[in-house]
Amino acid sequence: MTQLPVIIDTDPGLDDALALIIALRSPELDVVGVTTVAGNIGLSTTTRNAGRMLALLGRSDIKVVSGAAEPLRRPHLDAAEIHGGDGIGGVALPEPAAAPAGTDAVGYLRDELEKRPAGSLRIMALGPLTNIAHLILEHPETAARAESIVAMGGAVRDRGNVTAAAEFNVWADPEAYDVVLRSGLPFVLAPLDVTRKVLATPDWSGRLDAVGGPLAEVAAQMIRAYLANIEAMRTAKGFPEAERKATGFPLHDPCVMLHALAPELFSIERLPLRIVCDRSDADGATVIDPASTFFADVMTGVKSDEALALAFDRLSRG
Ligand code: RIB
Ligand code: CA
Repeated sequence: MTQLPVIIDTDPGLDDALALIIALRSPELDVVGVTTVAGNIGLSTTTRNAGRMLALLGRSDIKVVSGAAEPLRRPHLDAAEIHGGDGIGGVALPEPAAAPAGTDAVGYLRDELEKRPAGSLRIMALGPLTNIAHLILEHPETAARAESIVAMGGAVRDRGNVTAAAEFNVWADPEAYDVVLRSGLPFVLAPLDVTRKVLATPDWSGRLDAVGGPLAEVAAQMIRAYLANIEAMRTAKGFPEAERKATGFPLHDPCVMLHALAPELFSIERLPLRIVCDRSDADGATVIDPASTFFADVMTGVKSDEALALAFDRLSRG
């Protein structure tokens, strides 16, 4: 089997954590390293959680290198109400086996891209694209050596999840998304349009729990923690009783891994996009704009049942 070398840039985060389990239980992927970014929670916590997940997975040999603590041009705003103050829903995890290998994610990405054949290393981006934007701005020729940048982000024909217009990863750092889009690098997007359709329901989570084993149990706990946090948040915001429970946990970030493992499960459209960065009500929107000369390969369809089955299989691998 030819393995795909990847670096995972992430802000764990409950769905990031599930994505890390899937990636590291998939022999098709060679996870070269993990870089962290402020997103769901602050950088020190996302970095700690990356180390905790690698310790859980028995892969503390994989380097964790931290990156940006703040977006390009805005203050960091987190999603702690969804992911919990510890960013991981209070789920018990081991502590990192070691301190992060470094604090220069951009330099690490640059070095790994330069020592590998051009077009061989994929960057899987699961949070705001701040680190990737810095890489492109500071080392454009090296950034162009990436096989592709595959990012969970955006809401193209669907509504946002922070505002009506904006999905969190773009909303948190729209300028970073704009830099990546305008770079011309191979850019694949997994927007809410598809990730919402890969929905881990309580029943699915219960079946996962029944598999037994540390990873399936942690994954089921994370799904339950997400559902509990959503219900608590909606209750605090005065949602009508009938609307407080989420129907499931959308496997947003895992879709980036599932696409790498089984691209045939996703239909892709090459679309002209524009990222709204004007601090209007549409701030952080990913707009299909025929006048744009900047294109991304956007996942606009998914075979949900097959994608969920693949996720279940990988999350069940002890
Ligand atoms: O909108 C969902 C995305 O924002 C996911 O990556 C989640 O982890 C958060 O970062
Ligand atoms: Ca994420």
